[in-house]
Amino acid sequence: MELWPAESIWEQVSPLLPGFTVEVLPEIDSTNTELMRRARAGQTEPTLLVAERQTAGRGRMGRPWQSAVGDSLTFSLALPFAPQDWSGLSLAVGLSLAESLHPGIGLKWPNDLWWQDRKLGGILIEAATAGQQSQVVIGIGINIRPRPAEGLSTPPAALTELWPQATAGDALLRLSAPLVRTLLDFERCGFAPLQARFEARDVLRGRDVHTSDGLQGQALGVGPSGALRLLTASGEREVHSSEVSVRPVNTHPHTQT
Ligand code: BTN
Repeated sequence: MELWPAESIWEQVSPLLPGFTVEVLPEIDSTNTELMRRARAGQTEPTLLVAERQTAGRGRMGRPWQSAVGDSLTFSLALPFAPQDWSGLSLAVGLSLAESLHPGIGLKWPNDLWWQDRKLGGILIEAATAGQQSQVVIGIGINIRPRPAEGLSTPPAALTELWPQATAGDALLRLSAPLVRTLLDFERCGFAPLQARFEARDVLRGRDVHTSDGLQGQALGVGPSGALRLLTASGEREVHSSEVSVRPVNTHPHTQT
């Protein structure tokens, strides 16, 4: 197993989240699936679960999430969570990760980390209710070192292209405490205070895009609730659904999205 900075993460995060634990597993089906199972079984302690290998990693919209052992960071964070409004949560998470990891990382609505028009990482957010308590599970996959394209015409981006010495453990240590702070702030204040910072990294703004549910138009940025604003032939439309994926019109269709 690689050396993980579990102790340092625990020292930084436990003052923010009482009862917090960090767990590293050599293998699991999916860190999100495991934390959702635990939540449904009533285990609601805040937990950061890292897996060195996932045998059934999941992406958004029912897609699989492939990651190369040793070359990627795959983890999930579960915590009790009860915001007034959940909209924009995935954008807030992406923004926190980008700001922690590198000034050059862009954000592709709703929740992808991008570098030079290629996907660097993704986020899968799920919610569970255990008794009276609502719990969120935030799963994050980040490519750390380059890997072959594996059927994709363009290989995904890797963090070492921006931060040459990066390891999965370094990245996890850098992003964990800021991510928890972002979530606690989001729970109180929602997405609106983050809108301008998201726009500064928005890679779609000004580009022609189409959505998986058939809309096409120019991306105008995001609104205060995190909705994607699109200028279509029939006027301005807001795209809210998290079950929609968006692709810039001039990106090759076989690029990982
Ligand atoms: C996406 O871009 O579609 C989201 C990818 C999310 C992948 C991470 S890896 C850790 C966690 N466990 C999973 O099964 N998925 C998320």
